[in-house]
Amino acid sequence: MSLYLSGDYKMCGIVGYVGKGEAQGFLISGLKRLEYRGYDSAGIVTIADDNTATLIRAEGKIANLEKKLAANKREDKIGIGHTRWATHGEPSERNAHPHQAGKIYLVHNGIIENYKELKEHLLKVHEFKSETDSEVLAALINSFYEDGKYPLVNAVVQALKLVKGTYGIAVVSTLNPEEIVVARSGSPLVIGVGHGETLIASDASALVGHTKRAIYLNDGEVAVVTKNNIAVKTLNAEPVSAKVEEIETNLSAIQKGGYEHFMLKEIMEQPESLTETLRGRVNLEEGTVHLGGPGLSEQELRKVKHLIIVGCGTAYHAGLLASYYIEQFTPEITVETVIASEYRYRSAYIPEDSVALIVSQSGETADTLACLREIKKQGVKTIGIVNAIGSTIAREVDGGTYVHVGPEISVASTKAFTSQAIAMVMFGLTIAQAKGVKPGVLRPYIEEIAKMPNEIAKVLKETNKPMKKIADKYAKYEHAIYLGRDIAYPTVMEGALKLKEVAYVDANAYAFGELKHGPLALIDDRFFELALLPEGPLYDKAVSNVQEVLARGGHIVAITNMPKLDLKVESVVKITTDLKIFAPILMNLVMQLFAYYVTAAKGYNVDQPRNLAKSVTVE
Ligand code: F6R
Repeated sequence: MSLYLSGDYKMCGIVGYVGKGEAQGFLISGLKRLEYRGYDSAGIVTIADDNTATLIRAEGKIANLEKKLAANKREDKIGIGHTRWATHGEPSERNAHPHQAGKIYLVHNGIIENYKELKEHLLKVHEFKSETDSEVLAALINSFYEDGKYPLVNAVVQALKLVKGTYGIAVVSTLNPEEIVVARSGSPLVIGVGHGETLIASDASALVGHTKRAIYLNDGEVAVVTKNNIAVKTLNAEPVSAKVEEIETNLSAIQKGGYEHFMLKEIMEQPESLTETLRGRVNLEEGTVHLGGPGLSEQELRKVKHLIIVGCGTAYHAGLLASYYIEQFTPEITVETVIASEYRYRSAYIPEDSVALIVSQSGETADTLACLREIKKQGVKTIGIVNAIGSTIAREVDGGTYVHVGPEISVASTKAFTSQAIAMVMFGLTIAQAKGVKPGVLRPYIEEIAKMPNEIAKVLKETNKPMKKIADKYAKYEHAIYLGRDIAYPTVMEGALKLKEVAYVDANAYAFGELKHGPLALIDDRFFELALLPEGPLYDKAVSNVQEVLARGGHIVAITNMPKLDLKVESVVKITTDLKIFAPILMNLVMQLFAYYVTAAKGYNVDQPRNLAKSVTVE
């Protein structure tokens, strides 16, 4: 049983409209909202009352599509649209959606795994114009539709029963410009309920400003949507009484709020986003934390002996960071953090009395989801640490804690990292409390967590301007080494990933202690080194390691909370904070600013780095 609400999202974007207004307007504005998920091509089709279709597609950004639309304005009252991030077939106009087969048009998110064998059968009846698996699905549906001999929904259902893979689809037919058929399996679809109009989107953010009410389709459901009616069924034709829910996202949350880029906005809103993560979960008077979502009894918590944390990229780093903390205060427990894409194919034994934390901002990451399913098969309790409300992972875990950071639009994850790490530390604290760890041991952690939003605000204010200057200086480098030890090690792993993905700098993270075992050979003028030097028992050792790098001509940027740094390095960023335990997390914010400003200085597309998509729903 999942404790989450329904609704979720996906890499490419789908939109649809049927109603009293003209469709093109909503479709294009909806696609713009979804563009950040995937952006190599886009297209829309609308159908007029006289059964003629206008199909417009363009390679590249939505702006290209918009230009083409300006020359093809239509008043049509129904249409579907898509923004694509290539999986099968190169990015091109012909591979862009919607795909046509006979009288029908289809947009599709996901992957049809058995498309090759399906295509072989369909070659006799359909002339393929693209290389996509999605066109195969369009042709398959059309083969059952027989140009209108059968109801469209029946054809869709028949086709989907033959499909292996994942899909969120919207289908229209020129023969019936009054209905859209939508279906989902493993790829989200939301139906917006309007007045005299119904809207479709793969993510509720596209609906904001149009309606506040939505139905989130579940896997295995299909719906026939008209302007005044939404009929949901399972693929086995059982009617579903779909629940209309309130859309939680608001418009200002998905706009840039005065910042030039979403990445900077999202870095800067961390005092608020972390406050949302902590809301109602920290009791300072008692010195305790309370997470409702995991749904584990005190007895179950007491029994936990092993924690396995699963995630990809930034989510994995957040897990690794949390594991260092959890080990510090939770007795008789082992914590193992694993990369989902690796773990899913390992034959790893999960010991008895384990709990798995499944970490994902989007809640849709294919590898993480696959691990969740594998782990569940072994009878292990799964707890989601998820941001996207109602996402697939959120639905499938046994319980969970939403991080509640709001929409994260920049492809590079920033605010989610901080909240994921803290949410997992709080989960560890919950176990420690149940195991009877002395309140005196846990209180310092809880007090620092409570202070963290304010401390984050202070650090951002203090370092924002200096980081821009420092970033300008280091923007010329193509290589970087990030160094840290203990808690600062997973922190620099995350810092290096950020610089790599947005600024395209070959940045790699090493544990200070590993330097002598190889990486020290790299030091030369092509590299700069970013060193985290938090106050603590290993500070002196880290300083000696920096000395070693300096002695070999390193170009060091040091980030520290020590009032005085006993080192002569090229650049120093000092943070002033009351936090001791969680100071490295504050340093990560500084590294986020650094990556942002280096990228901005290079003039790269900060929010949409090349080759990446926000939500990786393919393996
Ligand atoms: C990096 C980044 C990615 C994601 C990873 C997992 O900035 O955003 O590394 O962290 O793709 O995504 P989620 O958390 O959505 O599962």
